[in-house]
Amino acid sequence: MNKAYKVVLAVAVAAAAGVLGAALWEGQRRAPALPAAAAPDAKRGEYLIRAGGCVACHTDEQALKDKGPILGGGRAFKTPFGTFYGPNISKNPAHGIGRWSDAEFVNAFRAGRAPGGHNYYPAFPYTSFAGVEVRDLLDIKAYILTLPAQSRPNKPHEVGFPYNVRFGLTFWKWLYFERAPFRPDPARSAEWNRGAYLVNHLAHCGECHTPRNALGAPKRALLFAGAPDIEGGIAPNITPDEETGIGKWSESAIVEMLKSGLLPDGDTVGGAMTDVVNHGTSHLNDADLKAMAVYLKSLPPIRNKVEKKK
Ligand code: HEC
Ligand code: HEC
Repeated sequence: MNKAYKVVLAVAVAAAAGVLGAALWEGQRRAPALPAAAAPDAKRGEYLIRAGGCVACHTDEQALKDKGPILGGGRAFKTPFGTFYGPNISKNPAHGIGRWSDAEFVNAFRAGRAPGGHNYYPAFPYTSFAGVEVRDLLDIKAYILTLPAQSRPNKPHEVGFPYNVRFGLTFWKWLYFERAPFRPDPARSAEWNRGAYLVNHLAHCGECHTPRNALGAPKRALLFAGAPDIEGGIAPNITPDEETGIGKWSESAIVEMLKSGLLPDGDTVGGAMTDVVNHGTSHLNDADLKAMAVYLKSLPPIRNKVEKKK
């Protein structure tokens, strides 16, 4: 091969790679189109937004306490990586999701990506939400659009270098983010599958009850086996291990706790679980709570005693 020919070939290959790379990048940045669907059901969305725990994370503490308007953002989360603020997700066109298309809304959960293309931090639990059904997401969006717009501008997250570089999340996602949809297990009952869907995806119980590695990714081998350091407390082991988990709890004890916060010993659940119960599971129907209990009781027991970090 003569030299001039080689140069031409190299340039052509580089150009083709560039075009392909740019196409892939663009393809990723733009939210994929959605299949045609039935009209969304805002009433269903009102229920699902509770199952998803969206209200507690996207409403500031004062408004939550006063039972004020929801979804205006401003809730602070302290994490080992810095402080994150739940954004305004009301229908406000400037600060909320008022201008978002359905496809953009779905893509935020399923791909952890914003309409402009940037990556979200996993403080927004899209690692779990990626498995939420498109229909459920569109019903949630329809419900949000029935609520008044909130005017609070978003507060920038307070995270230091290198975590403040959102592009770095591309690598994090490549390592840890599975975009797998929920696949029901045909060998199990409809109730078990409903519980699996809620616990693993919409209600994202593992986000607190599964320990994380130094980069904030869940340790798969310790799924639901408890995690230290959630807002200064611990999220206990909720696998059915008799000693270190909730193996001695009956299904109805689990249902009762999720409904009212009441523990089998007569105490009330505290810490970060308070919000989960008050703004989430206490709004769910008995069938869904029982489905979650059935699923939790079916998990492999993992012996893991969680100690508070000093
Ligand atoms: C554990 C707290 C938490 C929960 C639960 C949660 N979110 Fe969020 N959400 C966040 C945080 C933090 C961000 C900001 C992420 C970022 O900036 O990278 C976010 C981002 C978003 C965004 C993108 C907003 C924007 O301006 O780009 C939307 C939309 C959203 N959440 C909707 C929801 C809905 C709907 C639910 C319930 C199904 C939900 N979230 C549950 C914490 C949470
Ligand atoms: C935001 C973090 C968070 C999420 C999300 C969360 N939990 Fe919890 N959970 C906790 C914490 C923290 C405690 C311990 C509370 C305390 O100290 O009283 C707890 C306690 C519990 C307990 C009591 C265990 C015991 O031994 O006392 C159960 C059961 C439980 N959670 C189940 C669930 C289920 C089911 C879900 C999903 C619907 C869930 N949790 C979601 C943080 C969370």
